[in-house]
Amino acid sequence: MKPIAGRSEPTPPVKADVHTHARPGEAIVRHVSLDLTTDFPSRTMNGSVTLTFDRTPEATQIVLDSKSLLIERVTSGGRPLAFTVGPDEGLIGSAVTIELPEKGDELTVVYTTAADAMALQFLATSQTAGKKAPFLFTQGEAILTRTWIPLQDSPGIRITYDAKIRVPVDLRAVMSAGHVGKDEGELLDGYRVFTFDMPERIPPYLIALAVGDLAFRKLGGRTGVYAEPSVADAAAHEFADTEKMVVAGEALYGPYRWGRYDILVLPPSFPFGGMENPRLTFASPTSIVGDRSMVSLIAHELAHSWSGNLVTNATWSDFWLNEGATEYAENRILEAIYGTDVADLNTTLAWQELSATMEDLQKTPERTALSHPLLVTDDPDDSVNAIAYTKGSSFFRMLEHTIGREKFDAFMVRYFDGHAFQSMTSERFVGLVKEQLFGGDTAMADAARIDEWVFGRGIPDNSVEPKSRLLAQVDTQLTELTTGQAPSTLETATWNAAQWIHFLKNMPEPRTPEQLVAMDTQWRLSQSKNRAIRFEWLRIAAKNRYDGAVASLEEHLSTQGRRRYVIPVYKDLVATDWGRAIAERVFAAARPTYHPLTARSIEQVLATKN
Ligand code: BES
Ligand code: ZN
Repeated sequence: MKPIAGRSEPTPPVKADVHTHARPGEAIVRHVSLDLTTDFPSRTMNGSVTLTFDRTPEATQIVLDSKSLLIERVTSGGRPLAFTVGPDEGLIGSAVTIELPEKGDELTVVYTTAADAMALQFLATSQTAGKKAPFLFTQGEAILTRTWIPLQDSPGIRITYDAKIRVPVDLRAVMSAGHVGKDEGELLDGYRVFTFDMPERIPPYLIALAVGDLAFRKLGGRTGVYAEPSVADAAAHEFADTEKMVVAGEALYGPYRWGRYDILVLPPSFPFGGMENPRLTFASPTSIVGDRSMVSLIAHELAHSWSGNLVTNATWSDFWLNEGATEYAENRILEAIYGTDVADLNTTLAWQELSATMEDLQKTPERTALSHPLLVTDDPDDSVNAIAYTKGSSFFRMLEHTIGREKFDAFMVRYFDGHAFQSMTSERFVGLVKEQLFGGDTAMADAARIDEWVFGRGIPDNSVEPKSRLLAQVDTQLTELTTGQAPSTLETATWNAAQWIHFLKNMPEPRTPEQLVAMDTQWRLSQSKNRAIRFEWLRIAAKNRYDGAVASLEEHLSTQGRRRYVIPVYKDLVATDWGRAIAERVFAAARPTYHPLTARSIEQVLATKN
């Protein structure tokens, strides 16, 4: 594949990224061409990556990121190039410094991944839904792509990519890219070979691969869902509104620029709710409930097709631009399809979580700024909190209310179009808001407190607090419960999942064993099919040492590995001796089933002393 036309000089990214070793001002990668084979027995991938790059005439080296990779050789035009792999600096891994020949803009790195590569999870047959075939998936965000591909792993260094992936003959490979050639791949040398092409420039964290026994169900003209055969029909039923969501997204933010929008349902250990890999959202199977109660997750990942994937945070200090704009757009898509009640409910629940996070961060108020400088030792994963998501989305909502919906929407359409396939910094975005949205009217921008929102701490008091009619109904019942009414007398029959979550989150503490039994009997919470509801209930159970929920707790923690539903429960459990025993027992048995990221987080929780 060719590099992008019309480029020969490296245009360095607009802002320095502390989480990369790359020196993009000297030589910058433009295209990544993968040729890899999966090796399930050794839990590794091996093969090569060919990188096409731009360089200054003076450049003598190109620097890549890598972590725990075994690099065998580097060549250019068939000739070996000298290279060094620097020391492993922890979070950001090792620099690979390659001596460049005088001429040439392409090199090939031959390498093997480590068995414990953080971006890769190889699942044994027993760890899948169908229990018939093994599975592999990658997770690149934030800085994990370097654990399976040596490249310049910075969100400001966009690349196009193509890939040839060899897998066992009975499996299928899918990527965040277009499929080239036959749907079922080609049989070659005892492997099944799949070919992919991503012609749009994307940040490296969006390169994604999954391999497994996958079935496909068509949803709409350009939408569909991949899943293990045993869950394919349920997935198609759950995500039936996907095409409508894409249409709603386009009506709000301009054309969907990625061709197809498919969803891949991952095995239960997938550590996230969803991941916005372009053309192919990765989704946790916990999103399949039967009643479409978790589809806000699809609205969210789809919204990243504009905020995040089209216009991308330039560095991990600007992460709120990805997630804040996406949470705002998620709510707009929900409103367009399901109406204001559903959207208000979603917004209000998030707002409550933001309030809780503000409390948690009282001792580190600097972390309540949307944009804050990160050190090389700061893990970008630690910024995944309600500040980036919900202080972020509240900033966008404030802008909407200040300027009016029509003008604000027009600004966002122009923003996505004008910066498509580019990176964005917090500083630059603030400048655009002041110039384009407020038309240079500084008094107005000051009144909206733009700088305070983005660079200051806390929530400025011109925030627009969301209200939800449906949650008010729940609050009435919470009052009944608080005043001693029996669970059986409460009016809960019409509640949706979000209302239940609100109810459980705000339940008065502490509860006696009798009260807990009465609630569990009445509402069968320990058996809830909705993991979000069951999660809230199990937190109450853990905090109140409710023996009746221990079986459910153990099952919940060992049958899925979504971090959001697992880590807080472990935290609640280790707070008491009663719970710590359960936590240690479950973790000892379930550890091999967790994704490396989840396992690492749980280990940190278990290491905390009471
Ligand atoms: N991009 C994120 C997931 C992510 C963030 C992975 C940072 C690694 C580092 C994704 O879009 C996301 O926000 N997922 C949420 C679901 C959503 C409905 C809020 C999740 O996984 O919980
Ligand atoms: Zn997101």
